[in-house]
Amino acid sequence: MEKLLIRGGRCLSGTVDIRGAKNAALPAFAASLLSDKPLTLRNLPDVVDVRTMQALMEGYGVAVSGRSTDVLTFDAAAAEPHEASYDIVRKMRATILVLGPLLARFGRARVSLPGGCAIGARPVDLHIKALEALGATITVTGGYIEASAPGGLSGARIVFPFSSVGATETAMLAASLARGETEIVNAAKEPEVADLANCLRAMGVTIEGIGTHRLLIQGTSTLKPASHEIVADRIEAGTYAVAAAITGGELELVGARLEHLAAVGEALEAAGVRLWPSDRGLMVTRPGPLTGIDVMTQAYPGFSTDLQAQFMALMCVAEGTSTIRETVFENRFMHVPELVRLGADITLKGTSATVRGVTRLKAAPVMATDLRASVSLVLAGLVAEGETVVSRIYHLDRGYEALDRKLKRCGAEIERVPA
Ligand code: EPU
Repeated sequence: MEKLLIRGGRCLSGTVDIRGAKNAALPAFAASLLSDKPLTLRNLPDVVDVRTMQALMEGYGVAVSGRSTDVLTFDAAAAEPHEASYDIVRKMRATILVLGPLLARFGRARVSLPGGCAIGARPVDLHIKALEALGATITVTGGYIEASAPGGLSGARIVFPFSSVGATETAMLAASLARGETEIVNAAKEPEVADLANCLRAMGVTIEGIGTHRLLIQGTSTLKPASHEIVADRIEAGTYAVAAAITGGELELVGARLEHLAAVGEALEAAGVRLWPSDRGLMVTRPGPLTGIDVMTQAYPGFSTDLQAQFMALMCVAEGTSTIRETVFENRFMHVPELVRLGADITLKGTSATVRGVTRLKAAPVMATDLRASVSLVLAGLVAEGETVVSRIYHLDRGYEALDRKLKRCGAEIERVPA
């Protein structure tokens, strides 16, 4: 196990390369299972979750090849729908995304039910309902989801009660091989969902309504060889935007897209951060003081739950009071007690955190609890007086490529050492 040592007080400047989104790469890997033709994915991030998903694909008999970690070709011609190793499945909830493609291509699938998760219960009922609407018979027994559709899936109208990223992706993946047309109402419209749609399109599926709450998918039985570039990671971009803002520095986020920050970009501007598009991506600077503002997490284009912890770290050192409401996951405030250890003034009540800005944070040993909570501690450490020690950083490595190296290149004093 490793930990990070951070000496706060350095103002960051320079450029950061923003890689492809982990949350777009994972469903694209699952899409490769639909086809017996090769799928090449470019701009892949080198993070642990992506490697875990690759191991899962290989477990199904998908041949994965590539000369570097950012471009991989998947050949699922010899894939089989046997049971995945529980050892891999328990590591990551996104493994549920193989259910739709396996069922659609082979007429059956048995996938372990993802367990509880640090940030909330995260049920998969909407994934199951979507597949049932397409004609599957599904039972959940002994911790496994068993799905069958011996005669294949048929297009249908799927109406989600609220938008779910994962359930929309499951529905899209399965509908791609279903007979006829599928309409998905109340579809999630996160850029990662749109990216999966573009990937499926490249593979030969006809999809209309990409980036909206209503998707129309014409299933096909003939997919073609395809190549797809994964969309830039808006959460990685938002995280470095906060790094620039909290240190009062200036960063160019190469490859980032301002429009994908949506409500987070607006909140940063309202707090005193300047963001503007550059030739290569996005510039971020914080010319004056930071002001506390209120935000509430919501589905895209609302304020992303995946940037809530990072934004809270920023609000800890802003002038005045801010209120942060979490509406997507029920237990996504685990960073609060750790930020308080660094001197933050935060009161938690139900789904709301009230943050009263302090003039300075003070270094302390802190512990990472999940991916985004961990990075918020690193961000706070960048401005805390003294040496902050962040342990359990394996959470960080699940979703951030070379975080310490990227920060160091921009002037941060940060060191990865054995725990
Ligand atoms: N939900 C249900 N039933 C379902 C599915 C979801 O009740 O069948 C609920 C969830 O419990 C949650 C809400 O719906 O309260 C939204 O969850 P969603 O399905 O949209 O989330 P997800 O697909 O499980 C993805 C990302 C998360 C991100 C959320 C929200 C991936 C692999 N994960 O999860 O990313 O927070 O969307 O945008 O795409 C992260 O990267 O740190 C992360 C947690």
